[in-house]
Amino acid sequence: SQPLTPPKMKSMKAQGSPIAMVTAYDYPSARLAEEAGVDVLLVGDSLGNVVLGYETTVPVTLEDMIYHTRAVVRGAPRTMIVTDMPFATYRGSKEQTLRNAARLMQEGGAHAVKLEGGAELGDEIALLVSAGIPVIGHLGLTPQSVLQIGGYKVQGRDEAEAARLLADAKALEQAGAVAVVLELVVEPAAAAVSRALSIPTIGIGAGRGCDGQVLVYHDLIRYGSGIRDKRFVKPYADVGETIRSAVSQYVSEVKNGRFPEESHAFQTQAQPQEKPTT
Ligand code: KIV
Ligand code: NA
Repeated sequence: SQPLTPPKMKSMKAQGSPIAMVTAYDYPSARLAEEAGVDVLLVGDSLGNVVLGYETTVPVTLEDMIYHTRAVVRGAPRTMIVTDMPFATYRGSKEQTLRNAARLMQEGGAHAVKLEGGAELGDEIALLVSAGIPVIGHLGLTPQSVLQIGGYKVQGRDEAEAARLLADAKALEQAGAVAVVLELVVEPAAAAVSRALSIPTIGIGAGRGCDGQVLVYHDLIRYGSGIRDKRFVKPYADVGETIRSAVSQYVSEVKNGRFPEESHAFQTQAQPQEKPTT
């Protein structure tokens, strides 16, 4: 199958067919997600947290995003790849935003870019769209502004906040965005935005009313030490535990001499059961 396109995403919404998105940061994760049938892969700047070990997404650079996007594209050549524009690579000048988005596509191989923010991004988004770049918006909790917001707080709880969210979402659609991610938004506000737009909403911690869902890969499979599951995450596997126990078994077998065995060793005369390249 071919990568999903913005028009197909829109028709999925019209048909009530939910869009399944997950993040990916490298070749094996992308490959497995493509084999699993995800609709869209997001090279999220959450890679700063879950892959690079930073406290926030603020230290993530455009070069980081290009490097990881290239690996994801190699792993999932038949899947739509969206890459986050990282902290302060937009909102400067429209021209700089265009140059940076173009690098994510030309050097990284992304099919679309994602930016955090609302109506104030209208002109920047319109310029990207005019250059042929599919743009996805990101509203609600916007992690690149966490130092300003003062924490990972649920958004849209009061009426004014919900109204602003709706106005921002409409402005993004008006500017030409092809979808909007809603992060940590109360369910009724996210549902209202989803009903008001003709482009799909993709929720994370935004409840059941969105047109699609996205989760961070490492949260979805509990890949990482000391992860405390967040309310909005459903862990479908505990890969962290699987890895810890496999590596610890390896360590003890090396130490007690149980690995390697005869079957892992090479003899002067090639054995009939030897595998070709190994
Ligand atoms: O970086 C990321 O993983 C994201 C998702 C949470 C939407 O932006
Ligand atoms: Na992100």
